[in-house]
Amino acid sequence: MENKPTIKALSELRAKVMPPGLASGTSCYVASGKGALLYDVEGREYIDFAGGIAVMNVGHSHPKVVAAIKDQAEKLTHTCFMVLPYEPAVKLAEKLCAIAPGDFPKTAIFVNSGAEAVENAVKIARYSTKKTGIIAFENAFHGRTQLAMSLTSKVKPYKFGFGPYAPEIYRMPFAYCYRCPFNLEYPGCDVACADHLNYFLITHTAPETTAAVIVEPVQGEGGFLTPPPEYFSKLAKICKDNDILFIADEIQSGMGRTAKMFAIEHWNVDPDLMTVAKSFAAGMPLASVVGKKEVMASVHEWGVGGTYGGNPVCCSAALAVMEIFEEENLLQKAEELGQKVRKRFDTFKEQFEIIGDVRGLGPMLAIELVKDRETKEPADEAAKALVQACLKKGLVILACGTLGNVIRILMPLNIGDAELDKGLAIMEEGLTELSK
Ligand SMILES: Cc1ncc(COP(=O)(O)O)c(C=O)c1O
Repeated sequence: MENKPTIKALSELRAKVMPPGLASGTSCYVASGKGALLYDVEGREYIDFAGGIAVMNVGHSHPKVVAAIKDQAEKLTHTCFMVLPYEPAVKLAEKLCAIAPGDFPKTAIFVNSGAEAVENAVKIARYSTKKTGIIAFENAFHGRTQLAMSLTSKVKPYKFGFGPYAPEIYRMPFAYCYRCPFNLEYPGCDVACADHLNYFLITHTAPETTAAVIVEPVQGEGGFLTPPPEYFSKLAKICKDNDILFIADEIQSGMGRTAKMFAIEHWNVDPDLMTVAKSFAAGMPLASVVGKKEVMASVHEWGVGGTYGGNPVCCSAALAVMEIFEEENLLQKAEELGQKVRKRFDTFKEQFEIIGDVRGLGPMLAIELVKDRETKEPADEAAKALVQACLKKGLVILACGTLGNVIRILMPLNIGDAELDKGLAIMEEGLTELSK
């Protein structure tokens, strides 16, 4: 009979063969998942409000995705698109170009990970503008490779000790309204944080040498920071006026997470380039840079690419994801889910003093925990404790935020009512315990 692994045995083996740098936020080892549910190797069930960090918007092991993966794997797993191209990648590019914001011709390339998409977006922006400077933001997260890490804001744990960082990156404050870097308040502020880009182009980097601004429409790891309605049109206009490209990093906020296909659509702004990954292929490693045809076409032949990028199995999974969005009306579901959770989070805020802010868009929602609503002292230990308390009761949630005091939710958009209600009830119990 097959020997079933135990969590204890796996933890011990892991400690021997894997380094602590590759850490996990939970101590359970998962064996399977279905929809919004996960099962560990010892048979315990968990409701998943984390979605593998924004990857499982269509749910775990969606039958359509599984069938597409199996079908494609039986036909062809790899040739390298640069050696022998194949249909699923071309079809997927067609689909992605059609759904990406902007009523203009677009093209797309495929790579393996979010960080790699970010790297390529920057390469393409630099190539097409013949400029080098990149403006990124405080609280930004763009990945862990050398350039993506350099664009990322938070030092520990992402950058600490891993320098020197890539040059020509300039960092501007972001629209963190709850902790406004300019000490102003919306709407009286008139979104001065966006206008600040004009000043920044005098004090930090000149328009003549600045290739692009890269920004997450809703900052993910930074704490689901959601700028006011005027923010991105102001930023995009300043970029346009100065021949600077606008890159939207939709890796966490895209694929329906905010109840629109891409979060930047909430601001009616069309990015020049956009990065997509995570929920794009429901867990298969696939990412993309999609953008204006003339910008993408500026790069010389063979200038971008990679061995595995746009692997046929991953592309087939992504095509299945696209169909699921249409067939299951997922954007509408996401909207309803967002309204339901927002209402509950607003009630939590009335119930629990520890919640200083509720924010987000659609079902991309978060609560920021503070020790004191007046001083806004971050309650990062409480955020950690809430994650562990929920896990014990069978709910997976994630902490995030530059100050480590934000709880975010990223459950599948098609989560059932019973699972959603149970998960929210566990969160409420956890918050009650914290508040004792
Ligand atoms: C906004 C954003 N950009 C880039 C990345 C990096 O993606 P990956 O981990 O696939 O390299 C992430 C990952 O969390 C992200 O949230």
